[in-house]
Amino acid sequence: ITVELIGAPTDVGASVRGAGMGPDALRVADIGGTLARLGFGVLDKGNLAGPATPWVPPANGLRHIDEVVEWNRAVHSAVEQALAAGHLPMLMGGDHCLAIGSISAIARHARQAGRKLRVLWLDAHSDVNTERTSPSGNIHGMPVACLLGQGPQALTGWSGEPAALSPDAIRFIGIRSVDAEEKAAIRTLGLNVFDMRHIDEHGMRTTMTEALQDVDEDTHLHVSFDLDCLDPDYAPGVGTGVRGGPTWREMQLCMEMIADTGRLASLDVVELNPALDVRNRTAEVAVELIESLFGKSTLVR
Ligand code: ARG
Ligand code: MN
Ligand code: MN
Ligand code: MN
Repeated sequence: ITVELIGAPTDVGASVRGAGMGPDALRVADIGGTLARLGFGVLDKGNLAGPATPWVPPANGLRHIDEVVEWNRAVHSAVEQALAAGHLPMLMGGDHCLAIGSISAIARHARQAGRKLRVLWLDAHSDVNTERTSPSGNIHGMPVACLLGQGPQALTGWSGEPAALSPDAIRFIGIRSVDAEEKAAIRTLGLNVFDMRHIDEHGMRTTMTEALQDVDEDTHLHVSFDLDCLDPDYAPGVGTGVRGGPTWREMQLCMEMIADTGRLASLDVVELNPALDVRNRTAEVAVELIESLFGKSTLVR
């Protein structure tokens, strides 16, 4: 398997500057060498190019929509090409708005290959706002809505279907910050949310067994890993940290159980903000967790 690293250095959908430095922070933490030592082919395609973030207020409930569209176009086409080449794309963000382009390309690919798609959304936030419900106008809070065919027209339909995902294709893990209208959307859409209370009561092991139920040999498994899923004690380098998240150990188990399925086929690593980090600790933690996600284990290899 060849992992294709795709850098998307932008904070265009975020509320705080700095996520644009994420790809290089992951490279400094040796994401490439780490995967190579695990036995993967590694193809670092460098960074995509796109517009600078204008840092202007939202218009019609959306901040930087034109620039978000442009960055997502670049991401969509890079992920599409990686999949066509038979590679496993790893999108290195950048903020979480880029999952729109990434997962739209993945949904089309899975559909054409006749495979079921399962998306694991590892995040403190549910990211299911639209331009009508968002308290901030920041599009990194809207990718799930866009992928479900809601939200601005400019950001929907990219997979070739009105919705890239059906609500039952997604499992949310680690959620602890949900805006008032997102709660209503989660209920109406019937989204499967394993929030922190669920993890506290049942543990990460049971949670992941549930989240991975029905993943089989016909499943394309995609992980959208927002680093603010982790507790900020372990991952301080994020723009919208929320206390009370999974520990390093809990997150390791989460990654190991995903690896055990053998179905991981694509990955987003987003919201890493080196400007807020402590000596690149969050990038290093990310690389340690990605190692487990790709199958590193203490006793086997
Ligand atoms: N719910 C908030 C909003 O919509 C925060 C979203 C944070 N999203 C993220 N990908 N970090 O503005
Ligand atoms: Mn190749
Ligand atoms: Mn988040
Ligand atoms: Mn997110």
